[in-house]
Amino acid sequence: MSHETPSTVNLLVVEDSELDYELLLAILGRDQALTGLRVRAQRVEDEAGMRAAFAAGRIDAVVTDHNLPRFDSFSALKVAKSHDEDIPVLVLSGEMAEDLAVAALHAGADDFILKARMFRLAPALRRSLQAAEVRRNARRQAQALAASEARLRELTQHLERVKEEERRAVAREIHDDIGTTLTALKFELARLARALDGRAAAAPHINAMQDLLAQAVSAADRIQHNLRPPVLDAGLVAALEWLVQGFRNRTGVTATFESNREEIELAPERAAAIYRVAQEALANVAKHAHATRVSVQLFAAADEVSLEVADDGVGFDTHGAEATPGFGMRGLIERARGFGGWAEVNSAPGRGTTVMFSIPPGTPAAAAPAPREREWTDAG
Ligand SMILES: Nc1ncnc2c1ncn2[C@@H]1O[C@H](COP(=O)(O)OP(=O)(O)OP(=O)(O)O)[C@@H](O)[C@H]1O
Ligand SMILES: [Mg+2]
Repeated sequence: MSHETPSTVNLLVVEDSELDYELLLAILGRDQALTGLRVRAQRVEDEAGMRAAFAAGRIDAVVTDHNLPRFDSFSALKVAKSHDEDIPVLVLSGEMAEDLAVAALHAGADDFILKARMFRLAPALRRSLQAAEVRRNARRQAQALAASEARLRELTQHLERVKEEERRAVAREIHDDIGTTLTALKFELARLARALDGRAAAAPHINAMQDLLAQAVSAADRIQHNLRPPVLDAGLVAALEWLVQGFRNRTGVTATFESNREEIELAPERAAAIYRVAQEALANVAKHAHATRVSVQLFAAADEVSLEVADDGVGFDTHGAEATPGFGMRGLIERARGFGGWAEVNSAPGRGTTVMFSIPPGTPAAAAPAPREREWTDAG
């Protein structure tokens, strides 16, 4: 059913007086040339009449008398809007009551017309039909926008998932290919060292090779861990501990981690999301904050798991036009929305920065997969 401003208007008139109705029709007929509206009207007197009329066919606009013996304009307005949120409704009244006019407009009426000034009716009807069309378009656009935002959110989540899967696959290859080779190399080197036992000339080379090998092992370990959040193996709390400790060692910033629980029941992809958020927030501290202290806190409640990363650094103006040139903060907010949670960044120049991220825990994984890595990483 199309809703362009019609040249023939199906008008529903809620009116108890036959005489007033005839007058109304006469006026609309007279003004037809002026407004270009051909009106096909029907009269009802109460709610049942209105509902029957809406059920029977298309109604483009409603004109309702305010004072009806079994009904009133506000109820008529409600009935009309319950059938069509955007339908124009004009209220007629025999007496001027400013309060009533204001209340009617507040309740959603398009216009309020005194019966003594019925010449206003046709132009008011035409204007309100156009206004209704504008409302309909706006609503359609808002719906289209919401749908497109929902699609974008889905896409973002999908990309996040794919990214995590890719990273895990790369981490696995590093582990399986490079890791096992390094382990083998280590054994061979130890054997070689034994075979060359006592040859002074070889000793420095053997030592150097062992050092290089240890470096390669720890580099592979680091890369693997950065690619694959240890969340899934070790649990979120241990993973965040590891992350914060690494941050402290790398940057020299005093970084602390606290959690209200040792173990947190959490869907794996949500745990990974929280881990990635902490990673991004700490990366921001290292890149932008010039902080001396940063605290990472995890708080798990029954319906919400929250992460807070607070630093005492330079801060920034979150309302500034170019406040978010990066994708880090945007990703944060999208991530939170995607999981039905919320995220917030509080900061001001000179006042440090606090990142908050909170999502429902989702359905925890049935059982954590047995750890299958690290048999080579901590040998050394
Ligand atoms: N902890 C912080 N201290 C001071 N400024 C910050 C902090 N976190 C973010 N900012 C400011 O907010 C901006 C946006 O951060 P965001 O993480 O979105 O982008 P980015 O870090 O610049 O780039 P990306 O994360 O995409 O690599 C930063 O460029 C920086 O100016
Ligand atoms: Mg960033």
